[in-house]
Amino acid sequence: MSHRDLRVDVHLDADDIIAALRDDAAKGLASVPKQLPPKWFYDDVGSQLFDRITRLPEYYPTERERQILRDRAALIAEASGCDTLVELGAGTADKTRVLLDAMASRGQLTRYIPFDISEGTLRDTARRVGAEYDIDVHGVCGDFEHHLRHLPHEGQRMIAFLGGTIGNQRPAERKEFLTEIAALMDPGDCFLLGTDLVKDVGRLEAAYDDSQGVTADFNLNVLRVINRELGADFSLDAFEHLARFDTDEEWIEMHLRSKVDQQVMVADLGLEVAFGTGELMLTEISAKFRKEGVDSELAGAGLEMTHWLTDPRGDFALSLSRLRT
Ligand code: SAH
Ligand code: AVI
Repeated sequence: MSHRDLRVDVHLDADDIIAALRDDAAKGLASVPKQLPPKWFYDDVGSQLFDRITRLPEYYPTERERQILRDRAALIAEASGCDTLVELGAGTADKTRVLLDAMASRGQLTRYIPFDISEGTLRDTARRVGAEYDIDVHGVCGDFEHHLRHLPHEGQRMIAFLGGTIGNQRPAERKEFLTEIAALMDPGDCFLLGTDLVKDVGRLEAAYDDSQGVTADFNLNVLRVINRELGADFSLDAFEHLARFDTDEEWIEMHLRSKVDQQVMVADLGLEVAFGTGELMLTEISAKFRKEGVDSELAGAGLEMTHWLTDPRGDFALSLSRLRT
C-alpha cells in the first residue's frame, strides 16, 4: 500500500539527549542509593534487546497483551469511535498492528501518531506503518515526561500506552503523567492503557531474570550508553543483573550490583564514582497493578474507566477510559 503523509517531528535531538543524560547521570550517580532512569536503556541496541525480551518464554506481558488485543480489538475500536491512534512509547509497534487492523477494518482509521524517545526506532516504525497502511503517519520524537504537549491534536484520538510501560514510572510520576494526558484530551478522545497485574512472585521474577540472560544484557546496556555518550569507563563484567519483586510496593526492582570495590570515571562529567562490593544501583522499577489501583489512579487524573479487559489467566489488563463528564 502507498502511504499518504509521512513525517517525524523531533523535539529531542542528539544534543538534548546528551544534556538530559548528563543531568540524570550526575544526579543519579551522586544519590544514595545510586539510580539511573530506565529511559536510557533504549538506544538502538537496547531497543533490539527489548524486542528479544518480548519473545522470551519467561516474559509473558507482551503475549498476554497481544492476546487481549486479538480478542478485543474490534470492541476497543468500536467503543473508542476514534480515527486516530496515538501511541506513547510505541517502540516497534508490533502489537499495535492488531489495533490498527481493527480500526481499518471498520473503515475508521485515518492516522497513526507514534511517540518515542528512541529516534531510530521511531523513524523505522513510522516508515514501516506508513508502507503497510494507507494512512497518514506523524511520528513525534520526545520524552513523555517533558514533551507530551507537542502531541498533535489531529482527528479523534485514541491515546494508547501499551506494554505496561506506565509501570516504569513511580506513583507520583504516574499521577503527573496521567493528569497531563487528561489535560491534553479533547472530548471524544479516549485513553487505552496496558498494565501488568500482580501475580505469583516466581513468575514475576523469572520474567525479569530470564534463563538466556537477555534481560541482564538489557540492564547492563545502560552502562554501555553512559560509556559511549559520556566517556565513562564502566566495565560491564564488574556488574551483575539483579531483579526482585518488592511485595510491599508491588513492583519489580531491577538493579546492577557491583561485584567488586571499584572506581568508575565519567570523563565528560569530570566525575569519579566509587562502588563498594555488593552495592546496588537501581535501574528500573516495573510496577504491577490491581484493578482498584488502576481505577483510582485514572479517577485521580479526571478519567473514568469504561472497559477493563484481561486475558483469561488474568495476567495483564487493558483499560479504556474517557474524560469524566
Ligand atoms: N509499546 C511497546 C514498547 C515498550 S518498550 C510494547 O508494548 O512492546 C518502552 C518504549 O518506551 C521504548 O520504545 C522506549 O524507547 C520508550 N520510552 C521509554 N521511556 C520513554 C520516555 N521517557 N519518553 C518516550 N519514550 C520512552
Ligand atoms: C517497557 N517495560 C514495560 C518493560 C517492563 O516489563 O517493565 C521493560 C523491561 N524491563 C525488563 N524487562 C522488560
